[in-house]
Amino acid sequence: MELKASNISFSYNKKRQILKDVSLSLDSNKIVGLIGDSGSGKSTLCKIIAGYITNYSGEVTIDNQKIPNKNFCPVQLIFQHPEKTMNPKWKMEKVLTESWNPPQELKDTFGLKDNWLGRWPSELSGGELQRFSILRALNPNTKFIIADEISTMLDALTQVQIWEALINYSKANNIGILAVSHDIELLEVVCDDILRFDEINNL
Ligand SMILES: Nc1ncnc2c1ncn2[C@@H]1O[C@H](COP(=O)(O)OP(=O)(O)O)[C@@H](O)[C@H]1O
Ligand SMILES: [Mg+2]
Repeated sequence: MELKASNISFSYNKKRQILKDVSLSLDSNKIVGLIGDSGSGKSTLCKIIAGYITNYSGEVTIDNQKIPNKNFCPVQLIFQHPEKTMNPKWKMEKVLTESWNPPQELKDTFGLKDNWLGRWPSELSGGELQRFSILRALNPNTKFIIADEISTMLDALTQVQIWEALINYSKANNIGILAVSHDIELLEVVCDDILRFDEINNL
């Protein structure tokens, strides 16, 4: 499958345009990196691709079809700060299974401990929570993952473990990934191709 963002332009307000004619394409069996300066508009582009922002101009398609945004979106965005995306009043089991019920083997691959399931989000570390948000996004209906600085807050060992698990799962299940980071060394290890944001944004 191919996800295409074509000629995306966007501004939050009249003062400043953030994106101008940005185009990129993702393939199901590839991990594409996106590197760029802080504040340049990478997260904004991620939100557009994953359907969180809709008042943009241009087009986002999968295999030339508009992306369905009802029920479950096949493009899943994973954020830098997992705690902001979880209901603090839900225990982790509910947070996870709201999306799907991952097999035990996959939970083990991501280093998810059974006793974490009975805890509140506030009772887990950032790295522990991020394992849940990634696993939650790997619903069988997911075709593309937009990973926006997902390991920036984590220690080196957790970073390696999480990326290894995510890469293995996505390659085996034909899920395409856009990996956004300001860390070129990480992208060089993880990605098949790397795009530079200032080269695809035509401001
Ligand atoms: N909701 C918003 N309203 C207005 N400006 C915003 C909003 N979100 C982000 N911005 C601004 O848009 C610019 C790009 O932000 P962002 O896409 O988060 O960049 P990056 O992810 O590359 O650091 C920044 O200057 C940021 O302050
Ligand atoms: Mg960002």
